[in-house]
Amino acid sequence: MKRIVHASDFHFSGPYFSENLWKEFCAHVRHLNPDIFLITGDITDEGYPHEYALAKQYLDSLEGEKLVLPGNHDARNVGYEVFEEIFGPRWNIWKSDGICILCGDSSEPDIDDGHIGRENYALMEKTLDCSDFTMFAIHHHLIPIPGTGRERNIPVDAGDVLKIITSTRTNLVLSGHKHVGWSWKLESTVFLVAGTATTTRVKSKTQPSFFCIDIDSVAFDCRVQKVDLFTEDIMDPNGRKPFMKLTKV
Ligand SMILES: [Fe+2]
Ligand SMILES: [Fe+2]
Repeated sequence: MKRIVHASDFHFSGPYFSENLWKEFCAHVRHLNPDIFLITGDITDEGYPHEYALAKQYLDSLEGEKLVLPGNHDARNVGYEVFEEIFGPRWNIWKSDGICILCGDSSEPDIDDGHIGRENYALMEKTLDCSDFTMFAIHHHLIPIPGTGRERNIPVDAGDVLKIITSTRTNLVLSGHKHVGWSWKLESTVFLVAGTATTTRVKSKTQPSFFCIDIDSVAFDCRVQKVDLFTEDIMDPNGRKPFMKLTKV
């Protein structure tokens, strides 16, 4: 079994970043003890080198493997170059124990719109069309999220990307960007959109949150829990009901 914490939009050093929320997040994940942290972008606020250095310091303090991909804020001010220096390639394949995660870059320099790009479709098809439990992680949401106001920034090629995802029967798509935790299911794929984990930039009465995903690589099933930072009864992972359970088809 692999436990993945999927968190997003830390915005370290940004005006809405909260040290207290970071401490709360750390307390939760210490308890959950994940194997992997999958961070779906917006780790900085403006993509500046000093912000990346700070983000690395914070993330290094978490115990566990980290998979990090860039968001629109990270691509500002040529931040995508600094991202690669500190966190490695913007597109990356992770594989272990029957689980395959393709991390991609949906950001474009200095604009907030998402774009995956035709040049990456072949890689997506090749990587995601396999017998592993497959996951595709990008910053931008591919399907609109309720309770987030006027829709914008969905990748301009979301339709083509959704077609690849459904035709390869990708199991999970993980993203962030909207600062509201949500999930959709389309055909056999579940789409998880993680809220912001550590900022006060939340919508209405929602609260900072992240996902805890348990994947059984033998039975090939998966349990997902949305963890709200200030909901009292989620501290005991053993007592929690699964938010959803899906089995690979
Ligand atoms: Fe963000
Ligand atoms: Fe974003």
